[in-house]
Amino acid sequence: MIRTFFKALAVVAFLACTLTVTVRAQKGSATTKSAGSDPGEQAFRHNCGRCHNAPESLSPREVKAVVRQMRVRAMLTQKDEQLILKYLAP
Ligand code: HEC
Repeated sequence: MIRTFFKALAVVAFLACTLTVTVRAQKGSATTKSAGSDPGEQAFRHNCGRCHNAPESLSPREVKAVVRQMRVRAMLTQKDEQLILKYLAP
């Protein structure tokens, strides 16, 4: 009985998480479309924007190091990582 309850709770928590992520993603694409269509910028906003703005005045080297660190935090795909690297260090 109690087990079933916890299972249900876990499922609800999981669904809630997925839902917020989906809603966020949709919001992101809706705003980025009007703001600009650079795929790197979009990738940054999607993946990094929830925690902070785009960094300024970092050398390409620093960007590489930082993106490698932030990749874990943001759970980037390889494609997003490439886009973001290009966006931050053209
Ligand atoms: C979960 C939140 C989170 C996400 C997502 C995230 N960051 Fe960060 N970022 C932080 C925090 C917190 C710091 C503060 C420095 C630290 O604790 O390492 C930081 C620091 C930085 C810095 C500053 C480093 C410095 O020394 O000035 C840069 C640049 C950066 N992040 C880039 C990114 C990029 C690019 C992404 C997306 C790929 C990203 N971050 C995603 C939380 C996040």
